Amino acid sequence: MPQLEHIHYDVLVIGAGGAGLRAAIEASANGVTCGIVCKSLLGKAHTVMAEGGIAAAMANVDDRDNWKVHFADTMRGGQYLNNPRMAELHAQEAPECVRELEGWGALFDRTADGRILQRNFGGHKYPRLAHVGDRTGLEMIRTLQDAGIHRGVAVHMECAIFSLLKDGDRVVGAFGYEREKGRFLLFSAKAIVIATGGIGRAYSITSNSWEYTGDGQALAYDAGAELMDMEFVQFHPTGMVWPPSVRGILVTEGVRGEGGVLRNSLGKRFMFDDIPANYKASTADNEEEGWRYTQGDKEARRPPELLTRDHVARCIMREVRDGRGGPHGGVYLDISWIKERIANAQEHIKKKLPSMYHQFKQLADIDITSEPMEVGPTTHYVMGGVRVNGDTQMSNVPGLFAAGEVAAGLHGANRLGGNSLSDLLVFGRRAGRCAAEFAKEHGGGKINQADVDAAAARALAPFDRVGGAGPYQVQYQLQKDMQDLVGIVRRQDEMERALEVLKTLKERSAKVGVVGNREYNPGWHTALDLHNLMIVSEAVTLAAIDRKESRGAHFREDYPDKSAEFGKVNTVLKKGPNGEMQLRREPLPELKADLKQIIEEMK
Ligand code: FUM
Repeated sequence: MPQLEHIHYDVLVIGAGGAGLRAAIEASANGVTCGIVCKSLLGKAHTVMAEGGIAAAMANVDDRDNWKVHFADTMRGGQYLNNPRMAELHAQEAPECVRELEGWGALFDRTADGRILQRNFGGHKYPRLAHVGDRTGLEMIRTLQDAGIHRGVAVHMECAIFSLLKDGDRVVGAFGYEREKGRFLLFSAKAIVIATGGIGRAYSITSNSWEYTGDGQALAYDAGAELMDMEFVQFHPTGMVWPPSVRGILVTEGVRGEGGVLRNSLGKRFMFDDIPANYKASTADNEEEGWRYTQGDKEARRPPELLTRDHVARCIMREVRDGRGGPHGGVYLDISWIKERIANAQEHIKKKLPSMYHQFKQLADIDITSEPMEVGPTTHYVMGGVRVNGDTQMSNVPGLFAAGEVAAGLHGANRLGGNSLSDLLVFGRRAGRCAAEFAKEHGGGKINQADVDAAAARALAPFDRVGGAGPYQVQYQLQKDMQDLVGIVRRQDEMERALEVLKTLKERSAKVGVVGNREYNPGWHTALDLHNLMIVSEAVTLAAIDRKESRGAHFREDYPDKSAEFGKVNTVLKKGPNGEMQLRREPLPELKADLKQIIEEMK
């Protein structure tokens, strides 16, 4: 085959956000050769969109915090569908991972006595988010990038993986292409870690940039791995809504953590109207108490703006639907009001939220130190993903690991803000270590040339098709239908319609043709991404239809309550023998007695 470069690593990491970089560093530290592939430039990852901080029970600001409270918060936020082993490891190991990051050069904001400063975030009982202003994800990526490069991790930038290759059951390589030159690349690897992030681009309003087309979920699924809990898609309550070109860009929860409040067009703090029963005791019922909480008063209860994301997003939707929204379909998020409470409020806001200040100034001509922002929900994160072993992060396909957003389990039905960055560190590290061990224990497998030829032929097929729909039309339609029919509020009839539409779009995407040549050709890349988008969209829709209840991020108008039956199961999807997507309900993993006791005590 012309223009095929063949590269060998012990461990190949696909995806170079926080989880991928952390996995690559750990694999390399464990004495194996490691290469990392990123779809765009190194450092450009959705990790930077986790702006407000890394959740870790370091107890620097409130000494009542510890891993048990963090564990219980994570389980409650995930409505108890979480993999408890992952939630346990995550809560226990996150503080050490933050300190490790600091040791590699990450510069955190500090407390008055010089420790890492931690801020409040939704669903966390105590101030727990170690942060760098509102640029925490960026600082994390910068630090991990430096550490990875120093360890000698080889980086393949602007490279997309198109197919995983197997030797029998085991994964042994990957086939991809360089986006710039269009040249094919063949990787042989003894173990592979997928860390490609989420699926936000399956929706039209999203905080995710163009890379997040569900590549890792689809690669793993096609290779025989199981996907789990794909119905749980997180709509972050606050994205920009205006101007249209920036709709969906994230407005960090850190704004609310620093005292920002949500109001409707009548000026009312509507979040006080709807406090879920299980959070009533821990939520303030008046403005004064909420403010005292954000100022560190240990006796005060959290303001309702810091309830979990699923709930806040639905309340915003309700206000807009009932005609109490702003001119662009959002509600008002106001941090400027704190000038009534503290001196130097303008400087304080710029110091705590520098990116938000610049983002609104430059993109919307709004000065957040003196006026409110208009915000609305944006597709931000998927809790579901590749089903993995909680200790090792290996999927059911030997040699295939997954870490970070692409993996399922830790967050259950809803992720708490800040738990993504700690997830990346804790499970990126575990995946890297276990992949290295796997690579050492197993020799290299055999790559089957026929599989490589078939992958290449499939990748080039869009050039041979004429007269089909253009890739952008299919992508646009898919995003619109997922947004409208499988969005924040779901219904059986709409989701069934979505399945029909997906069937048609799948047929259309199989006929998509592109023009031009293989050198930088975004139309071709989009045509190839469609396969992944179709898989994850079908997975979300099928799982959402099956789960006949409302829980966490999955809200059904036709089944508005939680069901005891569905509270006992995860949803698992697998590729059937004829290529059909098969769904089954899997009983939740066992909750050990000690963990059960922690949850009971924390209640
Ligand atoms: O709002 C935020 O800063 C996002 C954080 C996260 O998704 O963890």
